[in-house]
Amino acid sequence: MQGETRLKNHRLPVVADFFSSGNIERFRRIHSIMSEPNSRDFTGKMNHESDADFAARQKLQHKLNCIKHKIIVMSGKGGVGKSTVAVNLATALLLAGNKVGLLDVDIHGPSIPTMLGLENEKPGGTQEELLPVDLGGLKVMSLGFLLSSPDQAVIWRGPMKIGVIRQFLENVHWGELDYLIIDCPPGTGDEPLSICQLIGHLDGAVIVTTPQRVATVDVRKSINFCRQIQLNVLGIIENMSGFVCPKCGEVTQILPPGGGRSMADDLGVPFLGAIPMDPQIAQAGDTGRAFLRYYAASPTAAIMQELIKPLLNLQG
Ligand SMILES: Nc1ncnc2c1ncn2[C@@H]1O[C@H](COP(=O)(O)OP(=O)(O)O)[C@@H](O)[C@H]1O
Ligand SMILES: [Mg+2]
Repeated sequence: MQGETRLKNHRLPVVADFFSSGNIERFRRIHSIMSEPNSRDFTGKMNHESDADFAARQKLQHKLNCIKHKIIVMSGKGGVGKSTVAVNLATALLLAGNKVGLLDVDIHGPSIPTMLGLENEKPGGTQEELLPVDLGGLKVMSLGFLLSSPDQAVIWRGPMKIGVIRQFLENVHWGELDYLIIDCPPGTGDEPLSICQLIGHLDGAVIVTTPQRVATVDVRKSINFCRQIQLNVLGIIENMSGFVCPKCGEVTQILPPGGGRSMADDLGVPFLGAIPMDPQIAQAGDTGRAFLRYYAASPTAAIMQELIKPLLNLQG
């Protein structure tokens, strides 16, 4: 590819360019214009929208049109297994024959590169368009690829996070995808909100919880967030539900199970399934291997394969 460069010694050049070129201000303008009712002309250009803003919005729309299904993985709590679920949903969809992208928008704690053994990878491409890292067909993008070291702390306020998330959608060559799985940080802050505003139409959210009531209380907030912004809840996954003995494979209920299912019943949203606490999942995550690829024959892998069934049946 002409003009292709490997972004060595990457020090966020794209992000820096983005901020220095006044794009943040443009992003703010686009969003204030889009929220005005009846403000489009016959070409789709909004009143008061500059030609450059209109072109940027069209470019983003074109990219998004090439991705059939966009699914966000979220939770009110940290450490409940969102990234683990995102990696394995993406892998299961890939193994089922789909073209899949995995976007990590956990700006402060991007764990996808570590979980997939991609810490030393850098996206290729150009300043204008980055190529996602390709892992056996899975297209992966994370801020973790762009940091100079995994220990680098990212201290950004909302607009900077929104800016980089926009770049992840607009300036990354995702190409044609069947699914884009988006891994979010905990909570209902800038990251999930930006994703929903930028993408406009997501297929929905997969909400991850652990069985304990303390976790489900916070996770309910995620469901209310979805309701407030009219985002479809595809379902709840109860992770770390029981413990699989590494010796005999028997599942022991360490904590009272069922918190996820009863929350789903209570709130009238689908329950997608329960994943046990399995030492092989933790080991796979720590050693940078997608669990589903490496432990494909395990009973937990079979559970994970089941979880994607409703996602395979999405319309559109
Ligand atoms: N079902 C599970 N069994 C064993 N370990 C798990 C399971 N789910 C997640 N983990 C481990 O728990 C830790 C936190 O998971 P992670 O996916 O990073 O959570 P989150 O993204 O919600 O912060 C990781 O080390 C991961 O490997
Ligand atoms: Mg995570």
